[in-house]
Amino acid sequence: MMANHPILEGKTVIVTGAGIGIGKAIALYLARKGAFVVASDVKEPTTTASAIQSEGGQVLALAADVTSANQIQAIIDATLRQRGTIDGLVNNAGIYSSIVPRPFEEISLEEWRQLFEVNVFGLMSCCQAIVPHMKANGGGRIVNIVSGTPFKGIPYMLHYVASKGAVVAITRSLANELGSSNILVNGVAPGFTLSEGVLENTVQVDRLREVSRNARSLARDQVPEDVVGAVGFFLSDAADFITGQTMLVDGGSYFN
Ligand SMILES: NC(=O)c1ccc[n+]([C@@H]2O[C@H](COP(=O)([O-])OP(=O)(O)OC[C@H]3O[C@@H](n4cnc5c(N)ncnc54)[C@H](O)[C@@H]3O)[C@@H](O)[C@H]2O)c1
Repeated sequence: MMANHPILEGKTVIVTGAGIGIGKAIALYLARKGAFVVASDVKEPTTTASAIQSEGGQVLALAADVTSANQIQAIIDATLRQRGTIDGLVNNAGIYSSIVPRPFEEISLEEWRQLFEVNVFGLMSCCQAIVPHMKANGGGRIVNIVSGTPFKGIPYMLHYVASKGAVVAITRSLANELGSSNILVNGVAPGFTLSEGVLENTVQVDRLREVSRNARSLARDQVPEDVVGAVGFFLSDAADFITGQTMLVDGGSYFN
């Protein structure tokens, strides 16, 4: 078994958007740290599940679109049937890598709605569906994958930046609201990360790769594996008096 520091042994954690990119890297890392991972994505994340299983980790791979309350409920039911409790939720599903940067006048309200439907409302419905089970279980952890963009006021993807700004605000207010239920809510904000999806978007790569690298104290490309440790930390006992925070994981680009 691979978990040489099993800081999440015995924990059951749902990761949304776990099929590729940052979500896949998070799922793999949490399994390495001893968690039972429920990996979900729009399509069943079979590659993620095989990668975890090949290392001896524990995983349940399920298809669920976070914009569908029924599909979210189905993964909760399946998790509870198999595990009995849900200790953690990592809200990673989001629309990012398909975005083509452009002036805000060219981004239609329909695109704003579609993006908020996933990045904000989908995240909120996952929280609403899972929190009652965490309350019944005496507590839990929620980690929201945010972005450095609202901190820096990055231009040309205003709908995306606004959606992640909303999630920073949700992280703070939800932490306050759920503190008395021993549910801790934190955010992890990656910088521009070369996930599989991003690498396929040549416009984003051309526009953002070099400028992001040069803006960092640690002046190199950011990869999905750079993000995972902060997520594991917020899910672990080491973070049991930290809530409402958003940690920038960007190689020292924006100082929060
Ligand atoms: N890559 C970056 O530079 C970067 C930087 C900061 C934050 N982020 C955030 O990190 C997360 C992952 O980024 P990534 O680069 O791996 O993105 P990605 O677009 O490559 O992957 C996102 C994942 O979410 C899934 N997803 C999309 N809509 C969904 C839905 N309705 N229901 C369930 N799953 C859905 C996709 O299938 C995919 O597996 C996103 O929330 C993104 O906003 C990315």
